[in-house]
Amino acid sequence: MKELRNIVLVGFMGTGKTSVGKLLAVRCGMTFVDMDAVIQQRADKAIPRIFTEDGEPRFRQMERALVQELSTGSGHVIAAGGGVVLNPDNMADFSRTGLVVCLLASPEMIMKRTESDTERPLLAGEDKMNKIVSLLESRKKFYDSIPHRIDTTGLSVEEVADKVISLL
Ligand code: S3P
Repeated sequence: MKELRNIVLVGFMGTGKTSVGKLLAVRCGMTFVDMDAVIQQRADKAIPRIFTEDGEPRFRQMERALVQELSTGSGHVIAAGGGVVLNPDNMADFSRTGLVVCLLASPEMIMKRTESDTERPLLAGEDKMNKIVSLLESRKKFYDSIPHRIDTTGLSVEEVADKVISLL
């Protein structure tokens, strides 16, 4: 059996990685790590500023370095950023480190959950629904390639956490 050192939640923005991750950490007696929060703290600026001042490629480098670092640790519930799946090296590292679960949700649910959000540069500006739909479409193959997937549409945070725990 593969050693379970960490639980890693991946998935599109607004699928509940952070809320579910926080609850899972409490229920499993593990430490919660929000990758975006760590990146912001290290860069000493918010994600939208990293994107505008340093560019998305720089953000992806910081994300990659953090995946490598977290993959050597244990006892963490990790909420990854939505784009972590784009780099196959990230997924290879994470799947060696424990259970990787992809959270999914309908575009309407994602729209609702991210409606008042201003911290996600990839969904900023006009026509948020179109952005969600086209980004979801272009990333579908990455999310679909993760063996454990949970559709969170219409589920409470507790219900999603129960489903993740049933996979352990
Ligand atoms: C991104 C998702 C965000 C954050 C950044 C890029 C993406 O994280 O990492 O804005 O590419 O999907 P959340 O999924 O936690 O919103």
